[in-house]
Amino acid sequence: MAGSTPRRTAQTTWCGSRVLPRTAPPAYRHARPSSAPLAVDPVQASSPIQKAPPQRGGATAPPAPRDPARAGTSTRSGVVEEVGSDVRGVQVGDHVVLGPSYCGKCTFCRSGEPMYCENGFAELFGCRRPDGTTAFSKDGEMVGSHFFGQSSFATYANVSENSVIVVDKDAPLELLGPLGCGLNTGAGAVLNEMRPEPGTSIVVFGSGAVGFAALMAAAAVSCSTIIGVDIHDSRLELARELGATHTINSSTQDLHAELEKITGGRSVNYALDTTAISSVVRDAADALGTRGVLVAVGAAAPGEEVSFEVGSSLTKGWTFKTVIEGSAVPQVFIPRLIDLWKQGKFPFEKLVKTYSLEDINTGFEDSASGAVIKPVVAY
Ligand SMILES: NC(=O)c1ccc[n+]([C@@H]2O[C@H](COP(=O)([O-])OP(=O)(O)OC[C@H]3O[C@@H](n4cnc5c(N)ncnc54)[C@H](O)[C@@H]3O)[C@@H](O)[C@H]2O)c1
Ligand SMILES: [Zn+2]
Repeated sequence: MAGSTPRRTAQTTWCGSRVLPRTAPPAYRHARPSSAPLAVDPVQASSPIQKAPPQRGGATAPPAPRDPARAGTSTRSGVVEEVGSDVRGVQVGDHVVLGPSYCGKCTFCRSGEPMYCENGFAELFGCRRPDGTTAFSKDGEMVGSHFFGQSSFATYANVSENSVIVVDKDAPLELLGPLGCGLNTGAGAVLNEMRPEPGTSIVVFGSGAVGFAALMAAAAVSCSTIIGVDIHDSRLELARELGATHTINSSTQDLHAELEKITGGRSVNYALDTTAISSVVRDAADALGTRGVLVAVGAAAPGEEVSFEVGSSLTKGWTFKTVIEGSAVPQVFIPRLIDLWKQGKFPFEKLVKTYSLEDINTGFEDSASGAVIKPVVAY
């Protein structure tokens, strides 16, 4: 794809939908029911913030015409056309991917943990810019923007600099949008949190975008036993194509008996849950051996609980941790994933299907039915 004309893309799937806060973002006059089919609805794009310290400036990257109510549910890639006066790390003409926003000023941001930003709630769900305005308006009224720091289902996205990840110009722009959330999450859970040594074993529960990214990452760092678990054979087939050395259909096979067979009774070193199902998280914990690490990324509903055995398992010295967005610093991690892709070690193009803008509703339907893992709208 190097040298081809960059296309603007929008990924139609929703990242982190189930981690929505209980408190709803501000209501806007032009919001529409999420069940309604998408339609192109013209809105006015605001300019990037110019010279308004101490607010951060905005960077503008072009994406796909969209309905304002769903304007926030995509991750995307594009080309920067304009920057605000406070923007320092992004230039006009840069090829960029959008990721989750963060404040950049709190203790966690400054400690290199921006995905645990203390102001993450306002950054991701505040649906406004730091000065209280929005990136879009219609008939003089504000249209919610910056959902998940992005709101990029529009011809132009106007976002904070911290949401922008500059990428190599020789990477195929139309593929890169999905890197901003689910792929970042699964790969980061493995590469940033588990950090498995070559030759170790991992089991990944759930073969969706997040699970597939984890399987590819585990293969990239030479885990020798990589087990994909799902309840659909078609997903498991793709899991094998992406790096799983073994698969288990937990709806038709005895999970623990299969795990024992695969590991020769030694249990696994690492387990990842992407299903957000409490009983599966417990299964994942039970699959671990001594010093095993269980990472949960599936977005369970608020109040959901899991119980773990802590009597006999105490001597295993195992770890349970929850992880957001792969604990990544997106500006560092996403270019690394692109480098792995270039080396054929992160073949996420196998998850992507591209749709024209006219077919965007088909993309949503294919995502909802599970027929396509990462629908991307390109134009
Ligand atoms: N923590 C984060 O920062 C973060 C970021 C992005 C997404 N997420 C969350 O990660 C989760 C996974 O996202 P996704 O896009 O891969 O979703 P997905 O729906 O595409 O994949 C989930 C998979 O789990 C499988 N599954 C369902 N029940 C199962 C069971 N009992 N045993 C084994 N597998 C089962 C499904 O068949 C499906 O293939 C979601 O909850 C999403 O909201 C979290
Ligand atoms: Zn912060």
